Amino acid sequence: MRAALEVCKDLDVALLTKVYPSRSHSGAAQGGIAASLGNSEDDSWEEHMFDTIKGGDYLSDQDAVEEYVKAAPNVIYELEHMGCIFSRTPDGKIAQRSFGGHSRPRACFSADRTGHAILHALHEQVMKHSRSIKVYSEWFMHSLVIEDQQCRGVVVSDVRTGAVEVIQAKAVVFATGGYGRAFQITTNAFASTADGVLAAFNSGIPLEDAEFVQFHPSGLYRQGILFSEAARGEGGYLLNGLGERFMEKYAPERMELAPRDIVARAEQSEIDAGRGVNGEDFIHLDLRHLGEARIMERLPQIRQLGIDFISVDCAKDPLPIQPTAHYSMGGIPTDKFGAVVVDAKGTRLNGFFAAGECACVSVHGANRLGTNSLLDAVVFGQRAGRSALEYAKNVASPSVNESREKTRVLSVFEDIFQREGSESYNDIRNEMKNIMTHNCGVFRDAEHLTQCIEKIQSLQVRYKKGKVTDKGRLFNTELYEIIELGNMLKMAEIISFAALARKESRGGHFRSDFPKRNDVDFLHHSLVYPTEGDGLELKTKPVVITRHQPAERTY
Ligand code: FUM
Repeated sequence: MRAALEVCKDLDVALLTKVYPSRSHSGAAQGGIAASLGNSEDDSWEEHMFDTIKGGDYLSDQDAVEEYVKAAPNVIYELEHMGCIFSRTPDGKIAQRSFGGHSRPRACFSADRTGHAILHALHEQVMKHSRSIKVYSEWFMHSLVIEDQQCRGVVVSDVRTGAVEVIQAKAVVFATGGYGRAFQITTNAFASTADGVLAAFNSGIPLEDAEFVQFHPSGLYRQGILFSEAARGEGGYLLNGLGERFMEKYAPERMELAPRDIVARAEQSEIDAGRGVNGEDFIHLDLRHLGEARIMERLPQIRQLGIDFISVDCAKDPLPIQPTAHYSMGGIPTDKFGAVVVDAKGTRLNGFFAAGECACVSVHGANRLGTNSLLDAVVFGQRAGRSALEYAKNVASPSVNESREKTRVLSVFEDIFQREGSESYNDIRNEMKNIMTHNCGVFRDAEHLTQCIEKIQSLQVRYKKGKVTDKGRLFNTELYEIIELGNMLKMAEIISFAALARKESRGGHFRSDFPKRNDVDFLHHSLVYPTEGDGLELKTKPVVITRHQPAERTY
């Protein structure tokens, strides 16, 4: 939506979305959006930059990080002027709270519904500009149209009717999110199924840093639903089964507010050592000492989630939590202007732009700090929109062979409808999620990753032998779920392939068989390309280092 608002200053936009705009997964970024406003304590973009780079275990491209953190304060004021209601300090300034890995309280927030508040403010602006932004809600994007090395549009279908259409466009901006649904325990919405990144990949575009998946420390036990890090930012404790604040062993200075990769590993280590609560696979998030009034002011959604989902009121009892797949640091490679690039030299694919979780700029490196994703979506959404606008103003209207493009997608539908096998798509989905969480999760090693790749490949074979029960076109959610599953199976293979190749531990990627970071051999981004016959090929891309040389990461 931020990109669309930029483009609509001069050109018309089709805003195509898989879910109603205000239901986008950005609503799950609960706790805040980072900016060095310095309202409650001295802060600067330099501090924000350093925290982001250190948090990302020195894999971030530092030129991009610098521009991103410099843009942050104005982004907050702009959102505020658009109507986003931020929580306030007693003297009326935008309030800021602490978050993991940030050395200053710099998370601007709307209680614990920050992403939700931003989505609504942007959606209101989109509606205000409805003459130039036409919203296509609940449409599914199948593929990119690329001709003569230029992106000329997308092939889409209307979920309601099943009608396949080609949208010809001078420029395309993807903001299609991540792929957390490939994991069993995940915070991600049902729509986060890799459709955008796979559409890019299927067009020959590599995926960057796919091995770096973030596991958020506070997912509801078994269900993965997010309890915002804001709970710890407000002073919540993590307790193991012995009632110990175990973070003092893992990050004695920052404790519960160490970066997410460190906290998630600490939790998993306690659980694996049998120190989960009652010996089970969860630990406790304890907020009781904050008091009901503070919880209701700052964390009302968390309280309600606990009551609604497990009948636990966090004002009275601790919440059972475990690490949960939350965010993909990797994605479609872009430059710092939001233009998609296809190689290590930064060669652009004309007409194609991306921003937010589907993109890899890379500002987050190997581990994103909490509250930096909403900032990423808004900063690079605006930049991608601006770049798309500048490009589109200088390019002729496309003339695409629509029938050829439609036929490709219709033949995918037909192929699925024709299947008469005995495999259950639900079983395949559950097995994929299970193996990804257990073999490609918080802790990884060569043996488990190899098994993971083999299993995913065998699931890809079984995927072709399923059976569809609904062969109609109207609201055929079964068809879409099968297409999504195919996308996730490929993405799962790409993640585990890149994870097996990175024989070091860095940020969110921890190899028990290579527990140290190895800057000599692995201080580079990975690029996974598709090859003939459904294969994968790994290449690398240098990290841009400007101000901060890699150093040991302690908290
Ligand atoms: O915990 C949270 O509130 C999540 C925020 C984020 O991922 O940035």
